[in-house]
Amino acid sequence: MIFYFSATGNSKYVSKSIADTTNDKIIDIINIENYKFNLEDNESIGFVFPTYFWGVPPIMLDFIDKVEFSNYNNNYVYSISTYGY
Ligand SMILES: Cc1cc2nc3c(=O)[nH]c(=O)nc-3n(C[C@H](O)[C@H](O)[C@H](O)COP(=O)(O)O)c2cc1C
Repeated sequence: MIFYFSATGNSKYVSKSIADTTNDKIIDIINIENYKFNLEDNESIGFVFPTYFWGVPPIMLDFIDKVEFSNYNNNYVYSISTYGY
C-alpha cells in the first residue's frame, strides 16, 4: 500500500513505478475521508512525497498523524522523498 502526495506528478510517477513492479496499490492522500486501512499480512506501507524546504510537506505529516492501520504487525514501513535541487 503506497500513499502519495504529488503536486506536479514526480512523486506519483515514482509511486506508480514501484507499484507496477511490486504489484502494489497506490493511494492519493488528497481528499481522503476515511483514514482507516486494513493491511494484508506482511503488506508494506510506503509514503511518497516531494521534499519541501528540506522537509516533509505538512499535508503528508498531517496524513501520517491521522492514518490508522488494522492488522498491523511490524509491517515494513518506508518513505521516499523526491526532490528538485
Ligand atoms: C514549495 C516547494 C518547496 C520545495 N523545496 C525543495 C527543497 O527544499 N529541496 C529540493 O531538493 N527540492 C525542493 N522542491 C522541489 C520538489 O521537491 C520536487 O520538484 C519534487 O520532485 C516535486 O514532486 P511532485 O512532482 O510529486 O510534486 C520544492 C518544491 C516546492 C513546490
